[in-house]
Amino acid sequence: MLKSVSVQTKVYDGQKPGTSGLRKAVKVFQQEHYTENFVQAILDSLGNELAGSTLVVGGDGRYYVKDAVQKIIKIAAANQVRKLIIGQNGILSTPAVSTIIRKYKTLGGIVLTASHNPGGPDADFGIKFNCNNGGPAPDNITNKIYELTTTLKSYRIVPDMIVDISKIQECSFQVDDKEFTVNIIDSVDDYLELMKNIFDFGSIKELLHGNNEIPPFKVLINAMNGVTGPYITRIFKNELELEDSCLVNSTPLEDFGGLHPDPNLTYASELVTAIQNGPYDFGAAFDGDGDRNMIIGKKAFFVTPSDSLAVLAANLQLIPYFQKTGIKGLARSMPTGAAVDKVAAKKDIKLFEVPTGWKYFGNLMDAGLLSLCGEESFGTGSDHIREKDGIWACLAWLSIMAKLGKSVEDILIEHWKTYGRNFFTRYDYENCETDSSNKMMKELEAKIQKPGFVGKEFNIGNKSYIVNIADNYSYVDPVDKSKATNQGLRIIFTDGSRIIFRLSGTGSSGATIRLYIDSYDDDVSAYKKITQETLEPLVKFALELSKLAEFTGRQEPTVIT
Ligand code: G1P
Ligand code: ZN
Repeated sequence: MLKSVSVQTKVYDGQKPGTSGLRKAVKVFQQEHYTENFVQAILDSLGNELAGSTLVVGGDGRYYVKDAVQKIIKIAAANQVRKLIIGQNGILSTPAVSTIIRKYKTLGGIVLTASHNPGGPDADFGIKFNCNNGGPAPDNITNKIYELTTTLKSYRIVPDMIVDISKIQECSFQVDDKEFTVNIIDSVDDYLELMKNIFDFGSIKELLHGNNEIPPFKVLINAMNGVTGPYITRIFKNELELEDSCLVNSTPLEDFGGLHPDPNLTYASELVTAIQNGPYDFGAAFDGDGDRNMIIGKKAFFVTPSDSLAVLAANLQLIPYFQKTGIKGLARSMPTGAAVDKVAAKKDIKLFEVPTGWKYFGNLMDAGLLSLCGEESFGTGSDHIREKDGIWACLAWLSIMAKLGKSVEDILIEHWKTYGRNFFTRYDYENCETDSSNKMMKELEAKIQKPGFVGKEFNIGNKSYIVNIADNYSYVDPVDKSKATNQGLRIIFTDGSRIIFRLSGTGSSGATIRLYIDSYDDDVSAYKKITQETLEPLVKFALELSKLAEFTGRQEPTVIT
């Protein structure tokens, strides 16, 4: 029989989860007791429900995942958890964790990921708690976890427990007279089963391989050395019978092979170049933990995530899952381009706007109000789980293309002709100095909240814009009435064009300023326009108004989407 012990610890400051869990440098997590403290705080936050519970554990394969899994096993065993379900080698994509929590009705799950942040001994790690609905813990729970970390005096652990997580197996132990079971499962099985229930794999297969009338549809899929490797191998190679050469970077690596595993035009340039120069009709890339996606068409025609959401919304009825469930509602995060709003209006479907972060969609889904949602940050998903889901988005696109029989570009052009076009761009200024970034935001907030700013007219480019709303965005959840404040500075003009400034909540150090611009154009020739040219005057105006260059010393953004 194994015995648990209590270990004295010291409080670490700053264990406050951000937009998506606690994210810090690996070196920070490696400090004595640091990871243990946070895990103990997560377990303590579960109160009476913890004893006898089942939890899911898995991560994106980055450096330190395996160490963290072993620590979680030891700590869970000592805290009367009855069972852990763990992905083989600690590998579970974020969407897979959500799937497994829901399927086996567990109390929750611990996701070991820093998402799209680089990995390796000198890069980032993260721990996130997901609740029994499969979704990221809402603010009241993450706040509780944080509170607990500030007073923690000790944690409980079974020092002698070691489980071989490389083998699929179920093993049971007697710990302090109670049974404790660890179930190491295949990382892909449950997720694959879910995807097969949602989509018609037969029609996707026909699209990919062609038939007597249509040529094969050539795709290239890049896992960016992240967690989706085993998932795309099973789905696209084994099930949909694509050749190996269609899958790139499909082995999860602890340092993502040095990549910054974020599927955007800058960090996924390898995919963009390959599609630009190759015979491909379609390309997709995913981030480190598999919840983000980038979709591009022939010659690297880029689909902005805001447009991707709108196109999926307009065609959702082509996917078997939604034929069964119906379309309950649509949603986007506040800074996301408002293209989906036009679809919702035309189809008379309820639309929700929520703050940045997937956790805000969960309540709406649980209440049966929401089917499809997305964020401009390459996140798209539905109520099949409670996380965004990169591979799901790719399969959704392929399903729709199989039915429509059109190219990505033609689908977009037709969409814009029907609904008008929202031009959207995001400028990221990564790793700025925290103090000066905060000052910039403070000064801008004061400026836009001065009496007279609303109603003011500005000549920007060759258009005149009148300010309709200028505020610091706050949100009241329609289901539980919880309130989120300080969610980004908004300047909304009477024509619907929006300028938004936000500070990132996912960085592990310094500050990242995000500037979002969204502007609607219903001119029939809007489909021919180039986004960056179209939005340049609004970008320039926003930068001058905020004095961003003055505050941060940055002349150019790090990433433009
Ligand atoms: C970023 C994105 C946000 C997304 C989050 C987690 O958060 O902007 O949309 O939900 O990553 O993937 P941020 O760094 O802006 O706080
Ligand atoms: Zn992610």
